[in-house]
Amino acid sequence: MPQIEAVLGDITREETDAIVNAANSSLRGGGGVDGAIHRAAGPELARAGAMLGGCKTGDAKATPAFRLDPPVKHVIHTVGPVWRGGGDGEPELLASCYRRCLEVADEVGARSVSFPAISTGIYGYPAADAARIAVGTLTSTPTGVERIRLVAFDEATRDLLAAELARDVGSGPAGNPDGFAER
Ligand code: APR
Repeated sequence: MPQIEAVLGDITREETDAIVNAANSSLRGGGGVDGAIHRAAGPELARAGAMLGGCKTGDAKATPAFRLDPPVKHVIHTVGPVWRGGGDGEPELLASCYRRCLEVADEVGARSVSFPAISTGIYGYPAADAARIAVGTLTSTPTGVERIRLVAFDEATRDLLAAELARDVGSGPAGNPDGFAER
């Protein structure tokens, strides 16, 4: 299982093999973290995204990182669900984003990946629920990725992610009060 940490920062300044972009289905750029990554990577990113023919909600596709500084080599674009109250498959689609990003990271050979808090900005997903899905999915999906950084843009989101990571450690085999590997 990869080493996972929650940090406060700007994902365009990460030093991992790949950074994940919370994109929209056009892959041509937008606001929020999408806008920040496109500004840092340069206009080639939107051209590369357009050539991929879009991306479905819950899916993920990789492009080169263009002008982003090394060692970042890949941008993994994923499209999170828009929050509509939780009864429209949002949890499953958000989990799919994290799972597909790990699959794409394995396809491109990225060993370290930075994720933003997908869907919790413009798409309105409640941050606490999203943090639980992010950590639960990343800790239960087999992958060759060795290091994951959950990059929060605000302290409240960082604290939620850190709390979920701490809870997840507590629920592992070593953390079970009765000490057994499975219940
Ligand atoms: N680094 C890290 N995280 C960031 C950055 C940044 N530079 N900028 C914003 N964020 C955070 C936001 O604070 C939020 O917690 O990323 C999280 C996701 O927010 P959005 O970027 O709004 O993404 P999302 O909610 O998934 O909405 C996607 O917004 O920008 C458009 O084109 C995008 O239509 C798509 C939609």
